[in-house]
Formats: sequence, C-alpha cells, structure tokens
Amino acid sequence: MKAILMDAHGGPDVLYLGEARKPVPSPTQILIRVMAVGVNPADYKWRGGMFAAFAPLSFPHIPGYDVAGIVEESPAGAAPKGTHVAAMLNSFTQGAYAEYAVVEADDVGLIPEGMRFEQAVAVPTPGLTGVQMAEEHMDAKPGQTLLITGATGAVGRFGLWAAKRRGAQVIAAVRAKHRDEAKALGADVVLTLGEEDWTGGAIDAVGDTVGGEIVEGLCRHVPASGRIFTAATDPIPAEHLAMPAVFFGVHPNGPQLTSLLQGIAKGEISMPVAKTMKLADAAIAQAEVEAGGAGKIVLIP
Ligand SMILES: NC(=O)c1ccc[n+]([C@@H]2O[C@H](COP(=O)([O-])OP(=O)(O)OC[C@H]3O[C@@H](n4cnc5c(N)ncnc54)[C@H](OP(=O)(O)O)[C@@H]3O)[C@@H](O)[C@H]2O)c1
Repeated sequence: MKAILMDAHGGPDVLYLGEARKPVPSPTQILIRVMAVGVNPADYKWRGGMFAAFAPLSFPHIPGYDVAGIVEESPAGAAPKGTHVAAMLNSFTQGAYAEYAVVEADDVGLIPEGMRFEQAVAVPTPGLTGVQMAEEHMDAKPGQTLLITGATGAVGRFGLWAAKRRGAQVIAAVRAKHRDEAKALGADVVLTLGEEDWTGGAIDAVGDTVGGEIVEGLCRHVPASGRIFTAATDPIPAEHLAMPAVFFGVHPNGPQLTSLLQGIAKGEISMPVAKTMKLADAAIAQAEVEAGGAGKIVLIP
C-alpha cells in the first residue's frame, strides 16, 4: 500500500511517500480503508523526536493518529464491512498516513450517516482530549469557575463545550483574534491570553492547551484547593503557583468518540476543517501545523 514513511526523527523532510506492507488485523482489531487523515500537533512532535527518549519508535514508521474510513475487515465481527468509522490510533503502532490502518475494535467511533470523512477525521484526538480534560480531569460541574486556554483551538473547543454542557462557568483565554469565536462557542468570559488578567474570584480548575509562561499569570488565581491540568508539552512555570500543572494524556474511547461525532452531526459543537491536502503533501501539512495558526488540516490518500 501507499504510505508516508519516516526512517528517522527530524524535520518535515524526513517524511516520504513510499510503499509499506498492508497491515493485518488481529482478532481484536479492525482493518480500515483510509479515506481521510487528521493532522495533529502530536504528528510533528513525534516526528521531531520529542518523545523518543521514553517512547522509541521502530523505523520505518508511518505517522498519524486520526483516521476516518471504511471497515474492510473485522475478524471478530465487531463492525460489518463497509461501516464508516473514525478512530484515534495508538501512538506506538503504525499510523494513519496510509491507504490502510488497523485499530482496536473498542477504539472505533461510528460516523453518523451523511457525515463526510473529512469532517469526522477532525474529531478523534482533539475531541477525546477536550472532553476528557473537562470531564475526567477538571471534573466540571455547576458552581465551578474554570479556565480553558486556547479555547477556540481543536482541543480547547471540545473542552469548552464539555465544561459548559456540565454547567460550569468558563473563562476562555485566547488570542485577540479568536475572542468573538470564543464567545460564540459559549464562553462566559473571554480574556486575551498574555494581555488581560482575571479580576474575578478564585479559579477552581484550569484546562490548558497552550502551555508555557504565557499561561502562568492566570494560573496564579487557582488556590491550593484547585487543580491545574495541561495537555500542552511546553511546561507552565510552577514557582509562583499553588501547585504545579499536571500533564495528562488522551486515551482512546470508542463510545465517547461515537457520541462526539453525533454531537457534531446534530450541530451541538463545530470542528471546522481549514483545508484538505493530498497525502503526498504530508510534510507541507505538518510544517504548516508546526508554524501555528493553520487550523485543522486533513490529508486525503
Ligand atoms: N496530552 C495529550 O494527550 C494531547 C492530546 C491532544 C493535543 N495535545 C496538545 O495540546 C495542544 C493543543 O492541540 P490542538 O490540537 O488543540 O492545537 P490547535 O488546534 O493548534 O489549538 C491550539 C490553540 O491555542 C492557541 N494558541 C497557541 N499559542 C497561543 C498563545 N501564545 N496565546 C494564545 N493562544 C495561543 C492557538 O491559536 P492559533 O491557532 O491562532 O495559533 C489555538 O487556538 C498541543 O500542544 C497538542 O500537542 C495533547
């Protein structure tokens, strides 16, 4: 099959279009004919070797985690052939930048009828991360004041949606150009990150998707009874905070993904796709995501 491969960590130019063996699903897996691939910040971070010291990849490696496509084989009969599915793949196995991918059957989300693959594939990693951030980590509930940074980004918008759905008050900290969008997505208060401080009471929990020093000032409003969670890899300096930020990792969850896809189909939440590109242009797509501000890019094999 055709796939984007890499033989070593490095810049975007380590990615090349080549031939790889079509994967064979185990009894617990499903083989998907890939129709669309979502590009995430994780893709360029793994490519660059950010996690290589503790999570080494075997080469040649096929990158990519978010996949949408058609069930080609399901050895244990978990999904009929032809079913439209989306999934977040395991980071350590061969990835989604290919004509075929295998995924654990339990991790697969069902794409609602009529939803395009390009739309569905924009959801798995950011959707699961955002919802797990708000529900499992921040434990959003009525009466709480929560801060979500980067709240109009892919992860942030799902976190904002899930926190509002749970009845919490949400402060969104975003770039100035994203202020109106944050309000439209349901934020109760919008702050320009790095420029405006919060002048209300204590913040019960932070869900951070930006990371770094720019987030630190707002985190000072979290008392010792609060919690700071971050999905970002750029650490938040902790010396002036009541507690250090806790990094969390997303985990696959098929039923949660199905429910997110249904939420998109019903118009309860939006996840815009900025553009689609050919799979062969994966290096350009990753470079654009790495440069920032690209929005969601989807690759089509
Ligand atoms: N831990 C995990 O399991 C996990 C899972 C998924 C993602 N992540 C990480 O979470 C982060 C966000 O991912 P994503 O897919 O949501 O990316 P994204 O769609 O690019 O969203 C990031 C958001 O943060 C904004 N932003 C970035 N720098 C900013 C700054 N200095 N001030 C204000 N806003 C800023 C971006 O605005 P612009 O678009 O205008 O730059 C964008 O709205 C990444 O670091 C990613 O690697 C971690």
